[in-house]
Amino acid sequence: MTWSPARIPDQTGRIALVTGASGGIGLETARGLAARGAHVVLACRSIRRGRAAAERIGGSTEVVRLDLTSLDSVRRAAAQVRDRHDRLDLLVNNAGVMFPPASRTEDGFEIHFGVNHLGPFALTGLLLGLMTEVPGSRVVTVASLAHRVGLGGFDADRARCAAGRRSVRAYGRSKLANLLFARELQHRLASAGAAAVSLAAHPGLSPTGLWHGDAPAGLRPVVAAGLRWLAQPPQQAALPSLRAATDPDLPGGAYLGPSGLFGSRGAPVPARSSRASRDVAARARLWRLSEELTGVRYDFPPVSVPAAEPATGVCPVTGARG
Ligand SMILES: NC(=O)c1ccc[n+]([C@@H]2O[C@H](COP(=O)([O-])OP(=O)(O)OC[C@H]3O[C@@H](n4cnc5c(N)ncnc54)[C@H](OP(=O)(O)O)[C@@H]3O)[C@@H](O)[C@H]2O)c1
Repeated sequence: MTWSPARIPDQTGRIALVTGASGGIGLETARGLAARGAHVVLACRSIRRGRAAAERIGGSTEVVRLDLTSLDSVRRAAAQVRDRHDRLDLLVNNAGVMFPPASRTEDGFEIHFGVNHLGPFALTGLLLGLMTEVPGSRVVTVASLAHRVGLGGFDADRARCAAGRRSVRAYGRSKLANLLFARELQHRLASAGAAAVSLAAHPGLSPTGLWHGDAPAGLRPVVAAGLRWLAQPPQQAALPSLRAATDPDLPGGAYLGPSGLFGSRGAPVPARSSRASRDVAARARLWRLSEELTGVRYDFPPVSVPAAEPATGVCPVTGARG
C-alpha cells in the first residue's frame, strides 16, 4: 500500500528537531510531525522566519537559532537544546544550500561542504547524547539525487577550497557526504548497541528556495525545464523525510526517496544510491576528517571497519537497501 502521512503513528510525547524548518521541505517536515502531536524544535538561522513558520505550522513548537555557516552557532544551538530538553526522539538534518552567495563558512570551509555536511555532523555529535538511550530515536539526514555527481576524495584542502561555490560537483559532494555520514553513523550506533538509529532520505525535485541560488548559466534552462516537468510540491517532497522519521518498519541504514520518474517525484519508497555512497573505507575517512575539522568527537567506543558493503546495496549492519 502506498505510504501517506495518514500512516504516521501518533507522535504525542515525542520531541523532534528539524533544521531549516523556516521554509521549503523542512517546514513541511515540521508541519507533518507537529500535526501528529510531536513537539517540534524549529532550528532556523533567522528567528523571525522561524517564528513565522511556527505560526503557519501550529501545534507545539519552539524556535532555536542555528546558523550552519558557523560552528560557534551550532555549539550554541546544541547547548540551548540540551538546556531545555533531557531527550530527543528525532533529529532531521534537513537544512541545506545550493549555489549560495557566500563561498566559505565562518570557519573557512567550502560553503556546501560546511553547511550541508560539517555543520550537521557537528550538530548531531553534540545532540546525540540526548538520543542514544531513547527507544525509537532516529537521526534522519536529507541527501539528494545529486549525490551521484559528487566524487569522493574528501580531504582538508578540498574542504577549505572555495573554488566550487557555483559548482554542481561541490553540491553533489556535500550530498554524497550526507549519505556516507548517515551510514557510518548507523554503523557506529549499531556497534555501540545504541537505541538510536540513523536513516537517510532524499526529496526528489521540488521548486523550493534551494533553486534560488546562483546556478551556473549553462544549467539554468535545464533547471527550469526539470522543475516544470519533474518536480513535486514541498508537501510531497517532505514525505521521504517524514517516512524515514516515523515508519516503525524501517530499519536503521534505510534510504528513502520518491518512487517515480527517476526518483524525482512520487510516493516515498526505498531508494538506490551510487557505488561511491557505499564505500565503507571512504565513510570512515570522512568521519575522521569531519571530527578533525569540526573539533566535535562522538562519544562512541572505537568500532571495527567492515571489509566492504555488497554491491547490491544491502547494508550489512541493518539489511536495508542502499
Ligand atoms: N528542493 C529540491 O529539489 C531538493 C532536491 C534534493 C535535495 N534537497 C535537499 O532538501 C533539503 C531542504 O531544501 P529545500 O529544497 O527545502 O530548500 P529551501 O527551501 O531553500 O530550504 C532550505 C532551508 O535550509 C535553511 N538554511 C540555509 N542555510 C542555512 C544555514 N546556514 N543555517 C541554517 N539553516 C540554513 C534555510 O533557511 P532560510 O529560510 O534562512 O534560508 C531553509 O529553511 C536540503 O538539504 C536540500 O539539499 C532539495
